[in-house]
Amino acid sequence: MLNGPRRPSLGRPRAVRGLDQFDTPPVALDPLFEHEPLLAGVPRVCEPFCGKGNLVLAMRARGLTVFASDILERGCPDSAVLDFRTMIQRPPGCDVLVSNCAYADAMGHIEHALALRFRVIVLLLKLSFLCTDERYERLHPRGHLCRVHVLAERLQGMHDAAHIAAGGKEGSQSQVHAWFVFDRDYCGPATINPVSIHRPAARMPWDGNSPALRTGVCEQCRKSYEPQRTSSRFCSGTCRQRAHRRKLLSVTPSVTRAPTEVFRYVRHADVPRFRAEGWELLSALEGTHHGE
Ligand SMILES: C[S@@+](CC[C@H](N)C(=O)[O-])C[C@H]1O[C@@H](n2cnc3c(N)ncnc32)[C@H](O)[C@@H]1O
Repeated sequence: MLNGPRRPSLGRPRAVRGLDQFDTPPVALDPLFEHEPLLAGVPRVCEPFCGKGNLVLAMRARGLTVFASDILERGCPDSAVLDFRTMIQRPPGCDVLVSNCAYADAMGHIEHALALRFRVIVLLLKLSFLCTDERYERLHPRGHLCRVHVLAERLQGMHDAAHIAAGGKEGSQSQVHAWFVFDRDYCGPATINPVSIHRPAARMPWDGNSPALRTGVCEQCRKSYEPQRTSSRFCSGTCRQRAHRRKLLSVTPSVTRAPTEVFRYVRHADVPRFRAEGWELLSALEGTHHGE
């Protein structure tokens, strides 16, 4: 235990948050199942904080058998009422746990899941779960945290059901969330993997598993974009034209440059398509019928 005064914590206290009835928008699962190799081919999972069943139903829709329970009866189909801390054995044939657990005692839940000998434990948690003295002492020394899939977007639509039922307002999400993956057989540092809810299959260029997420910076507007070709220089036809005009204006007659502009003959029928891509008609050649 590290000594010293605790830093003040802003936010709703545990007593008010109660059981943390934040039901997860199922879209959060898409990047997890796309990116997490330990979930590939897994037939059965345990969801011991199932709530209304948002994650349960989405995982069952993926063809998994899901053993669901919650400390409260909250309406999840085919589920049991059980305090996870009193679970004394894993469901039959099941050694993988996937959930968004109550945050208040997430550390205790991870320790209990490891004590139950779950092989893989996957929890949706605030990214800030990585920090604090407690995690430094109780979580990281074990070394079982193997991957953190950080969600690029804020997970909107996740509200405390108890707060809403008491007349509270729905707020927008201020926290960054991530899927924390614990592998009982792993001991070492964790890998950070950025993932996107909007583009769940997208991967970083350094990720060996194709298809790669390619990014480029537009030479005209300097914004990043997804190039469709390796030779691409502009994010749109508009930017290509702007760059072209800017170049024409900046060239003075006294400067001799190697020609860098490209021109090509196209069939008349293809002119609209090339124009849409940002090519410009050269008036000197307009009206000719090369090769047609
Ligand atoms: C953050 S919500 C998540 C619900 C669901 N997993 C989802 O993602 O939609 C946490 C749930 O854990 C339940 N819970 C809190 N403490 C629990 C405990 N000790 N054992 C089992 N369930 C608990 C709450 O009732 C609540 O439904």
